[in-house]
Amino acid sequence: MSEFEYVRNCWYPIGFSEEFETSKLKGLKIADKPVVVWRTEEGEVVAFDDRCCHKRFPLSESKLLDNGNLECAYHGLQYDSSGQCVEIPSQADRPIPKQAHLRNIPVCEQDRIVWMWPGDPSACEGIAPPRTQEAVDENLTAMPLPQVVHSPSNYLLLIENLLDISHFYPLHDGNIGDRANSDIPVQLEEGEQDGFKYVRTIREVENYKQPPYFREWFHYEVIDRVHTHTMVTPGLTRVVMNVAPPGQLGTDMERGYTLLHLHYPVDKSNLVWRILISSRKGHTPLNDTSRSTTQAIADMFHAVVAEDEWALERQQKMMEYPDEGYSELFLGSDAALRRARQIMLSMQRAERQAEPAPRRVRVAQETIA
Ligand code: FES
Ligand SMILES: [Fe+2]
Repeated sequence: MSEFEYVRNCWYPIGFSEEFETSKLKGLKIADKPVVVWRTEEGEVVAFDDRCCHKRFPLSESKLLDNGNLECAYHGLQYDSSGQCVEIPSQADRPIPKQAHLRNIPVCEQDRIVWMWPGDPSACEGIAPPRTQEAVDENLTAMPLPQVVHSPSNYLLLIENLLDISHFYPLHDGNIGDRANSDIPVQLEEGEQDGFKYVRTIREVENYKQPPYFREWFHYEVIDRVHTHTMVTPGLTRVVMNVAPPGQLGTDMERGYTLLHLHYPVDKSNLVWRILISSRKGHTPLNDTSRSTTQAIADMFHAVVAEDEWALERQQKMMEYPDEGYSELFLGSDAALRRARQIMLSMQRAERQAEPAPRRVRVAQETIA
């Protein structure tokens, strides 16, 4: 674990589409890279290295002009929405040096999510972000949790947390905590989809008596249930729960939810985490028809998230001590976590090996002539 930092060559979700207002600059750090992002007047989201190519002033703290150009707040270099420098006030009578452009960071907007590829841009050719159809399906009520979590922990700890329901008791005791959950047998499924290896846990149970909070969300007292947790990519973990009275899964009686966990590494010890909750349109809790099931889940979920944050932050602190003879214990219930970690470590190793040696920095002669 300690050798793991992050995977660079991956599409990571940097926000929901509605978070990117036209002509509003946003700055973020992803995989140790400072990035400036904005939505152009034409509606496209564009992203570049946040450092002005002159003296590294942060462009996310600069200004978009009425003509759509980005003007650096230090000496006024202007860039168009392709990242090309188009004006240098201090030498307006000279040609623009060819080094005067910003490094483009690949961005893709799909299914209400804006994705970013912080690694080698040539490596994303032919690879699309995973679909998140739940975010745009008209038959569902889909709602992002209002809080965006910034946690001082490595994002692999979060992915492991999301694949692991054996921590529901005791960490989530009192809300989604349910000791009986830990007794449900876990099947592990692995595969590859759209260029990414995935890991899925499947828990199937029949004639299960639902704990009170699930009964309130999904109505029935005794159910058959299929509960899956999937690391789709290092940027997306999908949790699906479907329940129905015994023998009725797959019929109109089915109820349930999907949680999309959208996460990216800020650096090796910080992450950003967003959650989208969805359930069938028209479904309401058992005793409160004034709000949707999605809303009811959202109303309690921030408490669950706070408990996970509490644990992740503490784990990260302990990760930072040298191992010195410490060795981690893997239990039977950790099989999916272990595979997820192996997959991400092998992705990291492969891309680090493929990296070219660092180039020497050259001073652009024409800019100082
Ligand atoms: S640092 Fe941006 S114009 Fe000089
Ligand atoms: Fe949790």
